[in-house]
Amino acid sequence: MQALLLELIKNNTTQELRPLLQNFSKEKIARVRSFHRSMWGYYQSTPLVELKELAAWLGVRNIFVKDESGRFGLKAFKGLGASYAMACCIARELGKEVDEIDFDYLTAEDVREKLGKITFATATDGNHGRGVAWMARILGYDSVVYMPKGTAEARRLAIAREGAAVRITDFNYDETVRLLAADSEKNGWTVLQDTAWPGYEEIPLWIMQGYTTMAGEALEEMPDTPTHVFAQAGVGSMAAAVQATVIAQGYEKEPVFTIMEASEANCFFRSFEQGRMLPVGGDLETIMAGLACGEINPLAWEILANHAQYCLSCRDEVAALGMRLWGNPLGKDQKITAGESGAIGGGVIGLLDKYHNLKTELGLNKESVLLFFNTEGDTFPDKYRDIVWGGSISVDFRRKNV
Ligand SMILES: Cc1ncc(COP(=O)(O)O)c(C=O)c1O
Repeated sequence: MQALLLELIKNNTTQELRPLLQNFSKEKIARVRSFHRSMWGYYQSTPLVELKELAAWLGVRNIFVKDESGRFGLKAFKGLGASYAMACCIARELGKEVDEIDFDYLTAEDVREKLGKITFATATDGNHGRGVAWMARILGYDSVVYMPKGTAEARRLAIAREGAAVRITDFNYDETVRLLAADSEKNGWTVLQDTAWPGYEEIPLWIMQGYTTMAGEALEEMPDTPTHVFAQAGVGSMAAAVQATVIAQGYEKEPVFTIMEASEANCFFRSFEQGRMLPVGGDLETIMAGLACGEINPLAWEILANHAQYCLSCRDEVAALGMRLWGNPLGKDQKITAGESGAIGGGVIGLLDKYHNLKTELGLNKESVLLFFNTEGDTFPDKYRDIVWGGSISVDFRRKNV
């Protein structure tokens, strides 16, 4: 029998973990937003799309999608983390607090001169590296970006166009991160990585704080309190930032929080099942390049293992369905252009109708208000057309158990 497209697991973690939420207080989130707001000419809140007709079809009160496909013109949310973390690095270099500096200060000629040459380095599936290269170019620094084997040319090119020196390695994402860290040590590069490891936590935490702008904008704009929040995970930094921002709102009833992962890189799914952090190795082959990470960011784990209730492991068909579903909306609902890693939530919505047990387990009913994040647009345009126009990676709805 073919494996199911969607599998749900409840979080069974019982590990004692550090409470990291003090780094995501309302004040800290406001400070991040204030930095992003200072990026005049670049920063704008992204749309929160209300999918009323889709909600009626699913039998819930409402569905909202925070659409990051237009963020900073980079087609993904990732520039939020890169920009804030780079600002924090520079502030530290100058012996200042980040709230003492803003975008004008960072771009001032004398600050550039004082700091001299800096090379920011990162490993990426695509979007984070583009964000790092973009911010480095704006501020006048160099960047080096390593990408895992199998990276799409369109994604490599988008980063090279921002002025980064790009190298595609022979390794998967997690091994590429290790290689980048070792090479940075040798070359004196400043690592701006969106995942942590022992002894390297400060910068990934700043990156996670940077993502709170996305979640904060969405939650502020929502006319109703969400009852269910869904966030996709690669290393989990983004999902943890969303979860932390939700908690910071102090809602009377905390929304049910569900992580969504690619089944080929489902490290949260396996970790929730076993109740402790576990890696997934191998080639991590999935169309969801941004979610093709087999090792969890330990900082994200400490937040999500303490607070997320569920994880959904999703096959590639789920992402492809989501791209088509959000790209071809019902009635007057607005179209959303979602790339593979962004669209996973759309596919979950499209399949919930077939998985009544999941609806029951998650407690979805006519009072539910669902919030999703479309974290990327068509970052690989040929693939987007293959899937949305050409119908590749299809779902057979006639099968009883999809
Ligand atoms: C489009 C997109 N969505 C989601 C994610 C997952 O973010 P994280 O690795 O922080 O879990 C990524 C990561 O690269 C991404 O590019």
